[in-house]
Amino acid sequence: MKKITDLELKNKTVLLRVDYNVPIENGIIKDNNRIKQSLETLNYLINQNCKIILLSHLGKVKEEKDKENNSLRPVREELSKLLNKEVFFVSEPKGEELENKVKSLKNKEIILVENTRYMDVPDKLESNCDDELSKYWASLADIFVMDAFGSIHREHASTYGVTKYLESAAGFLVLKEIEELDKVKESNKNIILGGAKVSDKIGLIQNLIENTENIFIGGAMCATFLKAENINVGKTFVDEEKMDVVKDLLKKYREKIIIPVDVVTENEIKSIYEIEDDEAILDIGPETVELFKAYLNKNIVTLVNGTMGLFEKEEYENGTKSILEYLHDSNIKTVICGGDTGSAVKKYNLNFYYVSTGGGASLEYLGNDTLPCIEVLK
Ligand code: 3PG
Repeated sequence: MKKITDLELKNKTVLLRVDYNVPIENGIIKDNNRIKQSLETLNYLINQNCKIILLSHLGKVKEEKDKENNSLRPVREELSKLLNKEVFFVSEPKGEELENKVKSLKNKEIILVENTRYMDVPDKLESNCDDELSKYWASLADIFVMDAFGSIHREHASTYGVTKYLESAAGFLVLKEIEELDKVKESNKNIILGGAKVSDKIGLIQNLIENTENIFIGGAMCATFLKAENINVGKTFVDEEKMDVVKDLLKKYREKIIIPVDVVTENEIKSIYEIEDDEAILDIGPETVELFKAYLNKNIVTLVNGTMGLFEKEEYENGTKSILEYLHDSNIKTVICGGDTGSAVKKYNLNFYYVSTGGGASLEYLGNDTLPCIEVLK
């Protein structure tokens, strides 16, 4: 893959795609990790005397009214604070204001452009990778640097389309993320999976199971595995479309796949064989926590993607909290795949070997051997 350090950057105008899709409540940024992680590339570009145009999406923008709550304006302030440097803001992702600001930009100066997904109203130009829009953003700069690891699975105009029109390379964050995930991919490991959906984890299981000691299944997604073994899961969502794949995985790799023996429902902690029709699985039970711990090998790396239950609610946080604390206290080399798992790690204030900035992105990357946005940087 072409790296930022392979580029001739001195005095160039650089279009830098970052992932500043950060949680914001009432204008306050709740987790600035993604912004912090972008600083290495930004400082490198500043040192190379570049003019920098930052593009990012924020949230989902489907209708006009979604724009108001998804403005990147609060990020400008945070970035400015972290860099200790003024950051200019342009309030529309396309148009005269942006073009004029780019024209007047001086070396080492930075513009943060408003949410690229504003261009999704009304015609989904960003998300459908519109060619004209890609060309337009590319026309503003000399070089494109892709550092939005969290969005590396999205073939959008600002992540993928622009690479058709500009010399492009990966930034330090993308390079670091890929290096860490590749190391896990290739090593013998344990994988703990959770969260609600089976469908987005199947690719990862199929791709990595051969080189994995054990895969632990928690979260509501365990319902599809339990149902595949003819266990009643009450009203917990079961992904019938993936049932055959799950049955097949269990048939081939039953000894590697560890599924819960007890769960927490809205009523009580109970054996998996006692779940009533009107109950849902909201966390793994304490016996399952002990079972997972017993199988976790302290000598190999553990990859975690997804939480064991509805950890946001105190009643259902024991599974997630206990497993994360165990990994932490046992000094098991642990790689956390962003998203909800990253939020849980933050909630319990734990430090791990590596916490990825990409939830969906790391899942997709680990589930496939490459991704289109990575291919175009090669
Ligand atoms: C994320 O938070 O997972 C990334 O920023 C991608 O966001 P998206 O799922 O809205 O494309």
